[in-house]
Amino acid sequence: MSLLTAWQFLVDLGHDEPNPLQVNRHVPVELDGKTVLVNGAAGGVGHFAVQVAKLKGARVIAVASGKHETLLRELGADDTIDYTRTTPEDVVRDVDLVVDAVGGPTTGRFLRTIKRGGALFPIFPLGFSEAEEANKLGVTVSATQVRSNGSQLAELGRLLSTGAIRPVTDSTFPLAEANKAHERAARGHIQGKLVLKVL
Ligand SMILES: NC(=O)c1ccc[n+]([C@@H]2O[C@H](COP(=O)([O-])OP(=O)(O)OC[C@H]3O[C@@H](n4cnc5c(N)ncnc54)[C@H](OP(=O)(O)O)[C@@H]3O)[C@@H](O)[C@H]2O)c1
Repeated sequence: MSLLTAWQFLVDLGHDEPNPLQVNRHVPVELDGKTVLVNGAAGGVGHFAVQVAKLKGARVIAVASGKHETLLRELGADDTIDYTRTTPEDVVRDVDLVVDAVGGPTTGRFLRTIKRGGALFPIFPLGFSEAEEANKLGVTVSATQVRSNGSQLAELGRLLSTGAIRPVTDSTFPLAEANKAHERAARGHIQGKLVLKVL
C-alpha cells in the first residue's frame, strides 16, 4: 500500500474516484530531469517515493534523521539532509517537487523551497493552511488518498521482483505479537516497513 501510495502520487493516479482531500483531481507531475525533495524519506511511503522518483529520472534530495543516510544513498538518493542537524527549508531552494511524507500542519514550510511552477505533495495533507501563499508563489499543492488498483499492483510487483524497487524492513513480528508492532510504530523513526508474519 505504501508503494502504491507513492506511485499514485508520483506517477499515475490510476482511478477516477472523487478525491476526499481536495475538490480537484490529483495530477502527478513530470519527474524526468527534475529535482525532487522527499521529506520523511526513510519511512514506509518515503523510502518508496525516493525510489520511484529515481526510477522516473529525478534527482532526489532525501530528508530524514541521520541514521538513515547510508540506506537512502543505497536507494538512490543523490543528496541527504539530516533534519536533526539542518533545517531543510533553510538550505534548499528551487526544487521542482516536494513529496512530504510527514505532512500535517507543518508541510507549508516547504513552499519556499519550491520554484514557481513547482508542486508540493503532502502525503498527509490535513492541517495545511497556506493555500494563499502557495497561490502567490505559483506552487501547486495537491494530495490524494490511495486506492486499491490491481493492474498497478501487478506492475509494481514486477518492479519489486526485478529489484528495480526494493522494500526495506524495519522489523518483523509474528502475527500473535502484533501489539509489539504497534509499540514499535509508536516509537517512530521507522526505516521502511514493519512486517507481520502470518505463518
Ligand atoms: N494519502 C494517502 O493515501 C496515504 C497513504 C499512506 C500513508 N499516508 C500518511 O502518510 C504519512 C506517512 O506514513 P508512513 O507509513 O510513511 O509513516 P512512517 O513509516 O512512520 O514514516 C515516517 C518517517 O518520517 C520520519 N520523520 C519523522 N519526523 C520527521 C521530520 N520532522 N522530518 C523528516 N522526517 C521525519 C521518520 O523517521 P526519522 O525521524 O528517523 O527520519 C519515519 O521514517 C502518515 O501520516 C500516513 O497516515 C497517507
